Amino acid sequence: MRLDQTSDLWWKNAVIYCLDVETYLDGDGDGVGDFGGLIRQIDYLAGLGVTCLWLMPFYPSPNRDDGYDISDYFGVDDRLGDFGDFVDLVRTANDRGIKVIVDLVLNHTSDEHPWFEEARARRDSPKRSFYVWRDEPSDEPKGIAFPDRETSNWELDEDTGQYYLHRFYRFQPDLNLANAAVRDEIAKMVGFWLQLGVAGFRMDAVPFMLELDGIAEQVEGDPHGWLRSLRAFACRRTGDTMLLGEVNTGLKDLARFFGDEDGDQLNMQFAFLLNQNLWLALAREDAEPLEATIRSLPQPPPDNGWATFLRNHDELSLDKLTGPQREEVFAAFGPEDGMRLYGHGLRRRTASMLGGDGPRLRMAWSLMLSLPGTPVIFMGDEIGMGENLDIPDRMSVRVPMQWSDDANGGFSTAPAKELVRPMTGGAFGPAKVNVAAQRREPDSLLNWMERLIRRRKESPEFGWGASELIETTEPALFAHRCVWQGSVVVAAHNLSGESVRCTLELGVQKGEKVQIDDLLEERRHEPGTDGTLDVELGPYGYLWLRVRRQGERALS
Ligand code: GLC
Repeated sequence: MRLDQTSDLWWKNAVIYCLDVETYLDGDGDGVGDFGGLIRQIDYLAGLGVTCLWLMPFYPSPNRDDGYDISDYFGVDDRLGDFGDFVDLVRTANDRGIKVIVDLVLNHTSDEHPWFEEARARRDSPKRSFYVWRDEPSDEPKGIAFPDRETSNWELDEDTGQYYLHRFYRFQPDLNLANAAVRDEIAKMVGFWLQLGVAGFRMDAVPFMLELDGIAEQVEGDPHGWLRSLRAFACRRTGDTMLLGEVNTGLKDLARFFGDEDGDQLNMQFAFLLNQNLWLALAREDAEPLEATIRSLPQPPPDNGWATFLRNHDELSLDKLTGPQREEVFAAFGPEDGMRLYGHGLRRRTASMLGGDGPRLRMAWSLMLSLPGTPVIFMGDEIGMGENLDIPDRMSVRVPMQWSDDANGGFSTAPAKELVRPMTGGAFGPAKVNVAAQRREPDSLLNWMERLIRRRKESPEFGWGASELIETTEPALFAHRCVWQGSVVVAAHNLSGESVRCTLELGVQKGEKVQIDDLLEERRHEPGTDGTLDVELGPYGYLWLRVRRQGERALS
């Protein structure tokens, strides 16, 4: 393997960790997490094996959508710290081999952003065209992001008598990306944060940002052309900038967001279709939905890739499944009404849905970390945190980090009622699930995750290689092989609670003498002379193997 080649396209073998500074660690005791607190935990993250931090929005904001309603793109929310703290974080993280990417929310601003305040002041305001206005509301674009709170994507501005577009909440007016002055401001933002040392951006709501339905008459030029030019600009500033897009859209459009075969738009996209079908496969204990999705997804261009995840900070969206499929996932993982959201999602976290730490949860992580792409872990999932359903809508999963069994889970020394968000309690609360206890327990989820992440990083075949599904006779078994520069790894996951036996095709010539290294456990495997291996996997069992050809060095 030419490992030296893995350093330039750093995102293809990265382990990304998403966190919200506000709920990570409160360094100054005011009840709100801050950069000072996060900096203290950088060595924790380095120890876990994280190579890239994705910071959720930390900009000045009225905080009506947890910071996704930005009122100043060139600032730091002063509850969290200042620019000096931000730069200290980036510098400390970089020193520990961790890159930092930040959320870039370009689809909309807050309605308290000075641009919008100016824009709505009068119809002939120079900032009016920073946003999208109409005399009459429209039923385009279709689809309402938050149907519990909004009924239209257009809101009347009483004073000026026109409607403005808002794809999300009414307090998040959509920016008019067709306006060259808006594009200039965006380039300025991207340049600004790159200069402060970030390695890239998690781009919010990309398809909404680029969509033309209902506003086409106001747009000149191809929005994908703009995305391409943004990427080119970012790479002129810093050659290895990574753009990771939130693209939850249908199959036929996905390749375009990479830039088709040129790969010159988003370097990475979150694999939403894969995620939704993975949860369906887990619910059914049947690998077929996952296999069918992998077969149907476009192959990313060589320098691009998928970002894989089990859960993120939003609802587990199941919007691309059929109604009956969604019901299957609801029945398995969200049996109560209060666990569901918007009719298509679940407001629960990975560990609570999979019954807490145990073989099923570990199998799901092992599967996620071995899928083609770059894994993204949501804060607290490495210890198996759960949600707090008393917190409304999507915020139920965004609970503060649980560092210990101290008051407030060690997150903050402030009185509980002053916390930025309540903690979780019960079986998943800090008394039962916390970092301090799991550090001391060799077989804890935390220590197991650390070992798994280390193996994942040492096995670039998973992130870089061509992946092929391995057919078996067991419906519950998901098996695949990744080949990179002649090196072969094989992974097998039993999605069911029953043991399975099967024969795996190792992808080597008949008669070729190979040995098998078990990448996760002390197990011996004797391959047959016909290039196959018989394996038995217990309930929710999993295994990762490397096929070693004659003359190749054994693994440590
Ligand atoms: C994205 C974010 C979500 C936010 C929305 C509006 O979907 O992930 O949390 O509310 O965009 O910015």
